[in-house]
Formats: sequence, structure tokens, C-alpha cells
Amino acid sequence: MGISPAKAAALLRAGELVILPTETVYGLAGNAGDARAIAEIYTKKQRPRFNPLIVHVADLGQASDIGEFDPVSQFLAAQFWPGPLTLILPRKPSALVADLALAGLDHVALRVPNHPSALAVLGALKGPIVAPSANRSGALSPTSVDHARAELGADIAFIDGGLCSSGLESTILRCSDQGIAILRPGALSRERLSEALTAFRRANPAAGGRAHLTGASHRENDSAPILAPGMMASHYAPKAALRLNANGANPGELFLGFGPRSLGADANLSPSGDLVEAASNLFAFLRHLDARRPNCIAVAPIPGHDLGEAINDRLARAAAPRLS
Ligand code: TXA
Ligand code: MG
Repeated sequence: MGISPAKAAALLRAGELVILPTETVYGLAGNAGDARAIAEIYTKKQRPRFNPLIVHVADLGQASDIGEFDPVSQFLAAQFWPGPLTLILPRKPSALVADLALAGLDHVALRVPNHPSALAVLGALKGPIVAPSANRSGALSPTSVDHARAELGADIAFIDGGLCSSGLESTILRCSDQGIAILRPGALSRERLSEALTAFRRANPAAGGRAHLTGASHRENDSAPILAPGMMASHYAPKAALRLNANGANPGELFLGFGPRSLGADANLSPSGDLVEAASNLFAFLRHLDARRPNCIAVAPIPGHDLGEAINDRLARAAAPRLS
């Protein structure tokens, strides 16, 4: 059944956790000012404490109370919020966010989710919420409330917001004097960001190199410092092994296809070859095939442009050698 946004806000105020829908994936939400609630999130997710949490806010005004915006970040927030963009900004000393949520960093990750229930909760709470994806650390992100509850247990309060419309996590950016680094490719594509930045540079010719995307900067492996992206090389992992860029299944494998040429696939991310559709199906289809307990899931090649960049990033992480 689930609870209403008003009830969720009351629970969060009282220090409880709530499974919350967003347009990207479901989150496990807690009051950002409540260190005890945040500790509970780390425990429930079995998440390493050095991996900080995204702070979700109602709007740019609330974000400005927490993070120090530079002109480019401000412009991108105005363009894409509410939406799947997370900005890493210097944290204001006055910010009402528990240190534990930032894992000791002096920067904070901020985003305004584009989902009516999440926005209603934020509006009723009148304060920031931390919300990592509602899965056990290292597992696939949940795109339905059933997946979230299967990951974290049926005893946590939840809002049922249906299927997540985009199905991939937010794109995480950090702006600096050197330019804009994509720390995690996500539901906002590089192409859309580039277009927005072109418009910004036209309107602000003095911005120079600050308003350019820098080259690939994703965290490549687990020994790289967690400094910003906090991403594990092995992440988003189903139980089965993954074989990428496959043209079909070998014995013992299931085949996850893409596009019209993937005939006979056990599931097809998008029979017409639409990357938006593929992104929204990715985690649910991996979960579905994994439940059939194959040794390996073979995955068709996915083009690298638009949302394909984030899809391929998640597939590469799911295919990476496991830590345990
Ligand atoms: O779409 C999303 O972003 C979803 C929904 C629920 O909003 N949330 C999400 O949170 O994906 P999570 O915790 O699963 O992933 C957040 C990523 C982690 O890789 C973390 O290391 C990074 O953001 N992160 C969080 N705070 C950070 C900070 N202060 N500095 C650098 N990276 C940060
Ligand atoms: Mg996550």
C-alpha cells in the first residue's frame, strides 16, 4: 500500500527511514540533519562509511543554503533541476547536514529530484533529505518499489511511486577552474550537457575554460582515491557473471539483447534500439534475468552515445571482477 508524502515527511522528521521514489531510481531516504538516521542508512545498505550520500533538496534556494554555487553550477542547476543532475559543491559551514552524510569531505553532492512524491515530501519536510539508491551496497539499483523492498527488507516505510521513468542514476558533475568533470555518467547525457554549456559560453564569453567538459574522469578502480566520485569499479552487480558485447548466448548463458538484430534474446532492452527505453529497462531486466540463476548473462553491444554512455558504464561495473 505504502504511505503518503505527508506521512513520509513526519516519519523523516522523527528520524525514521523511508523508501522514496525518484525519477532515476528509488532512494533510501533519511533526514539529512539526523546523524542517527544516516548511520542507520549505512547499516541498512551495508555501505562503507567513506562513501558519501547525495543531499536531495526542494529547489535551488534550499540548495544555496547548503552548497557554494559558482556561476556554471548555478546555470546548470537552473537548466536541469528538478532532474537527474547532481552537483558537487563546496559545503557552506552553516549547512544543516550531518558530517556523517559527507564522509568527512568538505564538498556536498546536491540534487533536486523530478518526481511528484519526492518533491511533495521535500516540500512538507522543509529540509534536506539524504537518499542513496535503495539497494544493498554493490547491488543493482531498484527501479520499482518491489525491487527496493526486496533489497532492503519489507519493514521499512515506503512510498509507491510506480516505475522510475529514467531508470539510471543521476549524472554527477564537479565544476572547477579546470572545467567540468563528469564523475558519474547518468540519466542526463553528455550531449545535453554540452548543448547547455555552449549556450552558457555564448551568454558569458568571459567564462572561458570553466564552462567546458573535461575528458573522462570516472573513478577507474577501487584503489583510486574516493576524493569525489566514490564509485567502486565493481558495482551494480547481479549474481551472475556478465559477458559484454556478445552476439548471442553460449550454453548456460542468458542473452540480454538490444535493437532489432538481437533475435531470440531472453530479454531485449529496446527492440527498436531506443537508448532511453534501454536505460529505463536496464536494472529491472538484469534483475529479472539474474533471478533465473544463469552462470552468465551475455549482453549485446550498446552504442556509446547519449544514454548509452551511462548504460555502458553500469554494464562495465557490473562485469568487473567482484571484491568478494
Ligand atoms: O539518481 C540518483 O542519484 C539516486 C537517487 C536516489 O537520487 N541516488 C544515488 O545515490 O544514486 P548513491 O548513493 O547510490 O550514489 C551517489 C554517488 C556515490 O557514488 C557517492 O560516492 C557520490 O554520489 N557522492 C555523494 N556525495 C558525494 C560528495 N560529497 N563528493 C563526491 N561524491 C559524492
Ligand atoms: Mg547507488
